[in-house]
Amino acid sequence: MKRRDFIKLPAFGVIAGTAGYASAEALHEDVTEVGTQLRDRRPVRNMHDFQAKPCLPLRVGYIGLGMRGYASLKRLSRMKGVEIKALCDRYEYPVRRAQDYLKEVGAPPAAEYFTSKEVWKDLCARDDLDVIYVTTPPWCHAEMSIQSMLAGKHVATEVPAAQTLTDCRRLVDASEKMGKHCFILENCCYDFFESMTMQMAQDGFFGEIVHGEGAYYHYQTDELRAQPMPPYDQEANPYYRVLMRAAQGNIYPTHGFGPVAKAMNLNTGDRVEYMSSVETEDFIFADMIKEMAQKTNSPYFKQFVGKKFVGINSSIMRTAKGKTVFVDYNTTYARPYSRIHQLTGVKGFAMKYPTECICQGSITPFSPQKLKAIRKKYTPELHRHIGDLAKRFGGHGGMDFIEDWRFINCLQNGLHIDLDVYDAAMWSSITPLSLWSITHRSNSIDVPDFTGGNWKTNSPIDLSLRNGGRNTEVLPESAAGAQ
Ligand SMILES: NC(=O)c1ccc[n+]([C@@H]2O[C@H](COP(=O)([O-])OP(=O)(O)OC[C@H]3O[C@@H](n4cnc5c(N)ncnc54)[C@H](O)[C@@H]3O)[C@@H](O)[C@H]2O)c1
Repeated sequence: MKRRDFIKLPAFGVIAGTAGYASAEALHEDVTEVGTQLRDRRPVRNMHDFQAKPCLPLRVGYIGLGMRGYASLKRLSRMKGVEIKALCDRYEYPVRRAQDYLKEVGAPPAAEYFTSKEVWKDLCARDDLDVIYVTTPPWCHAEMSIQSMLAGKHVATEVPAAQTLTDCRRLVDASEKMGKHCFILENCCYDFFESMTMQMAQDGFFGEIVHGEGAYYHYQTDELRAQPMPPYDQEANPYYRVLMRAAQGNIYPTHGFGPVAKAMNLNTGDRVEYMSSVETEDFIFADMIKEMAQKTNSPYFKQFVGKKFVGINSSIMRTAKGKTVFVDYNTTYARPYSRIHQLTGVKGFAMKYPTECICQGSITPFSPQKLKAIRKKYTPELHRHIGDLAKRFGGHGGMDFIEDWRFINCLQNGLHIDLDVYDAAMWSSITPLSLWSITHRSNSIDVPDFTGGNWKTNSPIDLSLRNGGRNTEVLPESAAGAQ
C-alpha cells in the first residue's frame, strides 16, 4: 500500500504529546520503513555477549523517582560497591524523598536535578556516572535511554523500553555504537517459577518447546477511577496508566512475553518472524471516564472524554523454527491476576497461573511433593544464591531485588547481561506491531530481527553463575549506604 493511499483511521487513539504515533499514517510509515532498514542491518558489534569494563564502585544516576525509581534506589543502596551519585525528577518532591532516604541510611547526598521536563539531559552529561536508571513514564524511556548511552553510560530502563519501531531500532544503534548495555528491567524474567522454567528448558525437561503463552491480566479499572494525587495533574503530568490506555494495541507486552521469550530462546537460537493481533472494543472504560467527568467536573477526567481506549488485545506470533507464541493484554475487565506463563514442549509442560502446574509425558500434573523435587532440581544457581534474601527484602515477592542485584553484579564484574538491548527492542516492538496489525484487519506483520542475524549463534540465558558473579555483598539495613 502506498503511503498516500493509506486510509486515515478516525478513531486512532494516541494523545498528542506521548512518544507514540500522531496518526495511523505515521505508524504505517514507521513500521514499513524500519522493517526494511532492519532487513539487511549489519551489527556494529554484538551486545549480547558484550563484556564491558568492570565498574567498581558502580556510580548510579536515576531519572524518575516515583514508585519504581524510589523502590529501586532503596534496593541499590543495600548493595556494596554502589554509589548513588545523582537524582532527577520533573518535580522536587520525589528527589527530596530520595535524598532523605540516602541521608537516613548514611549515604552521601547525591546531586539533584528537578523542576523541568528536560533537566534529565544535565544528569546524562555528568562525567561521574557508570549507569543511569530510567524509571519515568513509558513514553520517556526510549529517548532518555538513547541519550544516556550516547553520553557514555550503561542504562537500565523500565518496561516497555520503547513505543515506536524507530525508537526500538535507535536503542540498538546507540547501544552497539557506544558499547553500552541497555538492560530492560523486566523483573518477571527473574521471578522464581519463570526462572526455574528457563533452567528446565536449557536442561531439556520440555524437549523442544513448540508453544508459549504469556499475558498481562491485571485489573486496574477501579484503581483508575480515582483522580491521582499530586504531583500528577491534568496537563503537566497526567497519570501514565490512564494516558497509556488512550491507545490501542498491546501497550504493555513485556511482563507476559519476556519470560516466555527467554525460555523459548527467542533472539538466542530462534526468532519471531511475524505476528498478528486482534483487539476487542473498549466496552466500559470510556464510559467510566465520561461518568467520572460528569460526577466530579474535574478537568483531569474531562481531558480523556471522547478518547478511544484499549480493549483486550491478543497477539499470536510464529518463529523461524515453526513455533508459536500467544501474548495477551487485559487491564480493563475484572478477572484474577495472571501472566499465564505457559510452555508446551514435545516432552513436558509448565504453566504458572492460576496455579503452578508441571507435567511430563502425561496429562497428570505433578503432585505437590514432585513439584518440590522439581524446584530443588531446577532452581537456578542465581536464585539459590540470592533468592532467600530477595524474598525477605521483597519487591514483587523478591524478583525485583534479584533483577537489580544481578544487573549490578554483572556491571561490577564486567559480565555480559541477561536481558540485552535486542530483547528490549524486540519485546517492546510488540506495541507498535500489534497496533499496526489491528489497524489492518489483523493482517500479519514481520517482526524485525534486531540482532542482525546473530540470533542464530547467540547463547541462551545462563543463570548458573558458573562464570563468577556471586560477589556483590548485600548490607544489613542498618549499614546500607555507609560504605
Ligand atoms: N516492572 C514493573 O513491575 C513495573 C511496575 C510498575 C510500573 N512499571 C514501569 O515503571 C515506570 C515508572 O512507573 P511508576 O509507577 O514508578 O510511575 P510514577 O508515575 O510513580 O513515577 C514516574 C516518575 O517520573 C517522573 N517524570 C515524569 N516525566 C519526567 C521527566 N521528563 N523528567 C524526569 N522525571 C520525570 C514523574 O514525576 C514521576 O515521579 C513506568 O514506565 C511503568 O511502565 C514497571
